[in-house]
Amino acid sequence: MRVLVTGGSGFIGANFLNSSVPSRPTDHFINVDALTYAANPMSVAAIAERSNYSFRKIDIADGPAILETVLDAAPDLVVHFAAESHVDRSILGPEAFVRTNVMGTFQLLEACRALAKKKEVLFHHVSTDEVYGSLGETGLFTETTPYDPSSPYSASKASSDHLVRAYHRTYGLAVKLTNCSNNYGPLQFPEKLLPLMIQKALARQPLPVYGAGLNVRDWLYVTDHVSAIWAVIEKGKPGETYNVGGNSEARNIDLVHSVCRILAEETAATEKELLDLITFVKDRPGHDLRYAIDASKIRRECGWQPTETLASGLRKTVRWYLDNESWVAAVTSGAYRNWLEQNYEGRSS
Ligand code: NAD
Ligand code: DAU
Repeated sequence: MRVLVTGGSGFIGANFLNSSVPSRPTDHFINVDALTYAANPMSVAAIAERSNYSFRKIDIADGPAILETVLDAAPDLVVHFAAESHVDRSILGPEAFVRTNVMGTFQLLEACRALAKKKEVLFHHVSTDEVYGSLGETGLFTETTPYDPSSPYSASKASSDHLVRAYHRTYGLAVKLTNCSNNYGPLQFPEKLLPLMIQKALARQPLPVYGAGLNVRDWLYVTDHVSAIWAVIEKGKPGETYNVGGNSEARNIDLVHSVCRILAEETAATEKELLDLITFVKDRPGHDLRYAIDASKIRRECGWQPTETLASGLRKTVRWYLDNESWVAAVTSGAYRNWLEQNYEGRSS
């Protein structure tokens, strides 16, 4: 099978390729990535020389380029990860989100529609639980929860989901969708909560918790997301959506406490000196209170369940960042420092 993976040099895409390329030697994987700030070529260094892996630097929003790439690669399966993925960045600059997440997905769908006239192709769309908006103190997102996105990021992902389903209904394109909760683990860009807190704690800098830290996310270790995507590709029904989550709800403040505790156990720091770094800062505009996933459909229909607990996954994640300083150094360039200044400036309360 020929598998075209978009965004394979980002966090989840690289974890997908790093586990799939060696374990599926008879499949050929083509990584199509524009290499934005969120990508790191080091993330796929372990598979770069494998004979069943190739890379193409392409912007998915470049219609002619993506059409040529898809027709030339002639994949049997497209796994679409490429996106602008950070909510705070979408608040400060939404245009890139509409361009990549909406127009990029559209161009990729158009290319797949052209390919589907010549051969069968399955389009697997990787999406987010944020399309459903916010939950209150109780309840879970199911696949039939109405879309109610709050941020430019989640609105752009919601739009891409609608386009994917429309291409199935209108043109008969074979599609499947997964809407997943918060991922964490190795190779995550240190703008997201967990790697940001780890890096700041190691540098003994303030740990910026938005609002009162009471927002709840449902955390899933990234390799469990990878296995969920394969489970849906192999056992899910065409045209269907599957919610994916870890059944691991945590308040942000509790998660940050856990990071401090694990770092104190794994390094010379004391837990108290790390906890003292916690700083409550101005909240994210439109900040969704709570996400939680009902994953019973993927469990029932595809036999999937996560293997990591939040405790085991957090420990592995902290250890990975401690052991991979060169990876962190490669992504924390001047542009990264500018981002921190821009996002956190004037947030102190
Ligand atoms: P990421 O930001 O770490 O990586 C995104 C990748 O896409 C990068 O390699 C980047 O270079 C590439 N990219 C961006 N714009 C591109 C363009 N125009 N053309 C080609 N490549 C482009 O993102 P991630 O966290 O790995 O998320 C991957 C996907 O999973 C996204 O679609 C995201 O919405 C979805 N998702 C993420 C999470 C999460 O917690 N991170 C949870 C659920 C769903
Ligand atoms: O739910 C799935 C989504 O999870 C994905 O679709 C997104 O791509 C991914 O970025 C993630 O979105 P979040 O906004 O939930 O993730 P983030 O790591 O940015 O924030 C997690 C929580 O932590 C959120 O409630 C905001 C809070 N936070 C975040 C940062 C960066 C802080 O309190 N302080 C911070 O500095």
